Amino acid sequence: MINAEGTAGALIRYFSLIAAVQHNYQCSAPYCAVLEVGPTQVDNDPMLSFSSSPSRIVLGVTGGIAAYKAAELVRRLRERHAEVQVVMTEGACQFVTPLTFQALSGRPVRTSLWDAAAEAAMGHIELARWAEHVLIAPASADILARLAGGRADDLLTTLCLATEAPVSVAPAMNHQMWAHAATQTNVDTLRARGVRVLGPASGDQACGEQGPGRMWEADDLAAALFSGVENGPLTGKKLVISAGPTREPLDPVRFISNRSSGKMGFAVAAAARDAGAEVTLIAGPVMLSTPRGIRRINVETAEQMYRAVHEAVVGAHVYIGAAAVADYQPAAYAPQKMKKTSEHLELHLQRAPDILASIAALERPPFTVGFAAETNDVERYARDKLTRKRLDLIAANEVGVDRAFDRDDNALLLLWSGGRRELALQSKDQLAREFIAVVAERYRLTRHPLAALVPQAS
Ligand code: CTP
Repeated sequence: MINAEGTAGALIRYFSLIAAVQHNYQCSAPYCAVLEVGPTQVDNDPMLSFSSSPSRIVLGVTGGIAAYKAAELVRRLRERHAEVQVVMTEGACQFVTPLTFQALSGRPVRTSLWDAAAEAAMGHIELARWAEHVLIAPASADILARLAGGRADDLLTTLCLATEAPVSVAPAMNHQMWAHAATQTNVDTLRARGVRVLGPASGDQACGEQGPGRMWEADDLAAALFSGVENGPLTGKKLVISAGPTREPLDPVRFISNRSSGKMGFAVAAAARDAGAEVTLIAGPVMLSTPRGIRRINVETAEQMYRAVHEAVVGAHVYIGAAAVADYQPAAYAPQKMKKTSEHLELHLQRAPDILASIAALERPPFTVGFAAETNDVERYARDKLTRKRLDLIAANEVGVDRAFDRDDNALLLLWSGGRRELALQSKDQLAREFIAVVAERYRLTRHPLAALVPQAS
């Protein structure tokens, strides 16, 4: 029993009682299915990005000195038996002639949305559908900004909006332009939408300076498109990841929830996909779009998440519980709005099911990874959770005002039986990639101990 002005203080640290505001996350009605147990929506994207080699590639070339390297790239892609349709921006044509790309690709190069003859042969929408992958190399700061802004002001940006194919960009620009907050924000936006960012590399620049901004070499780009994920550390593995908060309804207009934005779990899902995994993401109510190539199941309450996770982990290799699941849920749901009849309000809460512990307790559990959000004594509490919940790995972070929740950066301390690794403060996307690399390594060592004795191919 929780008194709203007494014991509730402790719970308020974890929960915020939020008056019902219409949020436009994908839920068909306010508090839909609050009394229903089970997933409320399945967003099944059949296209698992990068999981197979694309044979029809649109290569977008934008204005930059690295455009000359794109000529080599066409050859590398064609060597892998891909059909390559080059689309050049106006700026690109200042650096390399379309004729060069036509000769190398064996197809007329497209440069304009307004070319009547080319549109008659294959309209831009048809071209967008034809593509199995769109690779933009080099990708200038300008194209990154236009893509992030959702512009359709030339053929290439229009194609990117119209295609359902995975999009990759290989940035190339002066290092200061790359480091500029505007460019970084644009890159983050694109990543969040599922665009794969390949590079840039660091080194000597055409302007005579040094730093990150060089386009990846043609060989590396072709390898990333064709073999990166086929040989990824999680290729062939099924991962189930939970993310975001849960909402525990009190009445038709109020619920108990927490401050989780879901950003870390979504970033982990995208990183796992890029490592080759087949990912199912069980998401609480968050305002985030589904990373491309990931199967998403939306839920609202801890009970619904419990059911969805248990269904999804059948046959899965790894479960990562990144969701901030409610520890307590209202003991009763008031079917009509509760009226304020007295000065004090007592809420009766009961324990919500512990999803993570229940997965780890299965007879044949997947490799189970938990998260621990702690305000103090991070390592001690996290290690205790690791043992108590019988986890394979736990990712701990310090939370509090301005820390971890609803931010774009984070740091993690990873703990497992007999080991630890610290991952420094960095963007959640980058952190997720490092985290997934450790998960893949620990999975390999614990589930396939003999693999530790065999040198790895990748
Ligand atoms: N978790 C879960 N189901 C719950 C509560 C938590 O699956 N009902 C999972 C979270 O997804 C996370 C991990 O458990 O991976 C840690 O959650 P946390 O609430 O910090 O751990 P508790 O063991 O509940 O400990 P405490 O709240 O006392 O810190």
